[in-house]
Amino acid sequence: MKEISRHPGFYKLPIDERLRVAAQALEIELDELIAAIDRGGLQAETADKIIENVIGTYALPFALGLNFKVNGRDYLVPMAVEEPSVVAAASNAAKMIRAGGGFFADADESIMIGQVQLEYVPNAAEASAAIISHEKELVDLGNRAIPDLLLHGGGVRGLEVRQLTDDMLVVHMLVDCRDAMGANTVNTVCESVSGRIGLLARCRVGLRILSNLCDQRKVRVTVKVPPSAIASKGFSGEQVRDGIAKASRFAEIDPYRAATHNKGVMNGIDAVVIATGNDFRAVEAGAHAYAARSGRYRPLCTFCVDDQGQLLGKMEIPMALGIIGGPTRVHQGARMALRILNVKSARELAQVVASVGLASNLAALRALSTEGIQRGHMTLHARSVAIAAGAQGAQVELVAERIRALGQITVEAAEQVLQDLSNERYST
Ligand code: MEV
Repeated sequence: MKEISRHPGFYKLPIDERLRVAAQALEIELDELIAAIDRGGLQAETADKIIENVIGTYALPFALGLNFKVNGRDYLVPMAVEEPSVVAAASNAAKMIRAGGGFFADADESIMIGQVQLEYVPNAAEASAAIISHEKELVDLGNRAIPDLLLHGGGVRGLEVRQLTDDMLVVHMLVDCRDAMGANTVNTVCESVSGRIGLLARCRVGLRILSNLCDQRKVRVTVKVPPSAIASKGFSGEQVRDGIAKASRFAEIDPYRAATHNKGVMNGIDAVVIATGNDFRAVEAGAHAYAARSGRYRPLCTFCVDDQGQLLGKMEIPMALGIIGGPTRVHQGARMALRILNVKSARELAQVVASVGLASNLAALRALSTEGIQRGHMTLHARSVAIAAGAQGAQVELVAERIRALGQITVEAAEQVLQDLSNERYST
């Protein structure tokens, strides 16, 4: 298997050199790569066809996550995110995880749930029995509305009935969306079967819409990390391992901590979801609803020490993603992101995305349980501060380094350093 994701020193290269290295590793023409992601990968004229009232486009930094090995395969991972250190931290954690063999992931079939709400049901037990006994007819009816998905091997797989109150039921239409995220398809199914369901239940039909709690479309990731791979300045591998396990336990017992813990997980997940043109609001909604499924908000990803003394990380999360349809059709940057990943299915994409979430979490817990998060954050933040102070090109790194060394990561300090640099130039 080719090691396309290992590029030590990548961060030190100028952008055009990074592009060259990436194009070579990915076997994509350099010009093609540049053209696809130039100016955010979306022209205003195209944007105008996607949403309403467009006055321009809005870009985010587009980066590559390195060192990812998922189920034995190497991936360069496109990430679109504005927060400093997310990409570096995930790449760094992926390198540590690689030392233990990488990420092992599996994903459910792409089953989405479409809800048909039934109100003022006169007899819930009879209505439920009538719907269940007509399952085949309703599945066929739903399938007739989505011929394209049927052609791609997907379709309505069955239904479930849930009673919510004495006179309210909800029918879940289970739709295998294959490589599409599937929102439109599922809504079409719901609308196409709802009339018949209302007749069978002899009641009023309420809402007909997909559920973002897609708990039949989950992805699971496991990693085993040897302590030697996670040792940090002044901390042994065992100390770091135990610190990470304790930090994970904190999230398990406290929802206030779990929320921040999961925010760190979503740092990595959203970055890939956005880069690939997927609906991050849907993924977020599903993730947090799933995290709260027990009645208490819990961590999506946990770490403990296994019986061989390794750090064992596990994650399970619903993941509704598509590699066809939606913005992937029209957004050049998203299309290129999918090409960079070279995934063959939405399930494979889900496995990579969840792995990035787990890596982000590991990086955060490692930093938090050792030197704290601020040093790393501020180191990267120094570059943005240097730019804000007016540094350009090679000056950015120079100014960032000096304000970091001064321990004053402020625009004022950066302006002073710029002034000093210019005085130095004139005095030599
Ligand atoms: C910051 O974007 C994310 C963290 O707060 C996550 C965490 O606390 O686990 C560092």
